[in-house]
Amino acid sequence: MHNPFLIGKKIYLRAVEEGDETIVALSENHPEPRQTLYYALPTGLEEQRAVLRKRAADSNTIQFTIATREPDKPIGITSFLRIDWVGRMAIFYIAIAEKENWSKGYGSETTRMMTDYAFGTLNLNRIQLHVSVENKAAVHSYKKAGFQVEGTLRQAMFHNNHYSDFYVMGMLKEEWNPL
Ligand SMILES: CC(C)(COP(=O)(O)OP(=O)(O)OC[C@H]1O[C@@H](n2cnc3c(N)ncnc32)[C@H](O)[C@@H]1OP(=O)(O)O)[C@@H](O)C(=O)NCCC(=O)NCCS
Repeated sequence: MHNPFLIGKKIYLRAVEEGDETIVALSENHPEPRQTLYYALPTGLEEQRAVLRKRAADSNTIQFTIATREPDKPIGITSFLRIDWVGRMAIFYIAIAEKENWSKGYGSETTRMMTDYAFGTLNLNRIQLHVSVENKAAVHSYKKAGFQVEGTLRQAMFHNNHYSDFYVMGMLKEEWNPL
């Protein structure tokens, strides 16, 4: 493992480093992950590097590179965005770039580690996210981690010639079951 911060069974989370922009670029440009991430414009590596540096310097953002333990390889990014340190709330984001790394439990383990970190270390009170109702794997893994559907945003995003509804999902510290 390289500079691990949170260590799980199959994956570990570490600070984002130079070179990790390739994994972000893959998530945001490749048609497969864009299917559920809804990015509509291409972004180059230099732009991705700049975004990652800006987020690293932003005290209201915490981002990690998700890496598999075996083989030791970066596979995605997970973050808390727009952290409100007074309201103790944050937006949760996760993207595993390559389809070959989906449905192996990595996303669920990451989500669980991030909720434990949010409530047990950062002392946040609420985490929320938006997810397409069509993204069944994501909705299932968020529910497994303890998120609830709190509402539906109708026709919230447009992709592949149709509008998709999005769920607002949230989880409170009082609903969290520590491992
Ligand atoms: C969404 C994402 C984070 C999920 O992570 P993952 O590692 O692929 O998912 P996991 O293997 O941990 O868990 C998926 C769960 O959904 C279930 N699932 C998969 N497809 C499903 C479907 N069509 N209907 C219902 N459940 C489904 C799996 O069986 C599994 O549940 P289980 O562990 O109880 O068996 C990952 O696929 C990803 O990054 N995708 C691209 C980007 C993205 O969509 N990000 C989220 C944006 S909100």
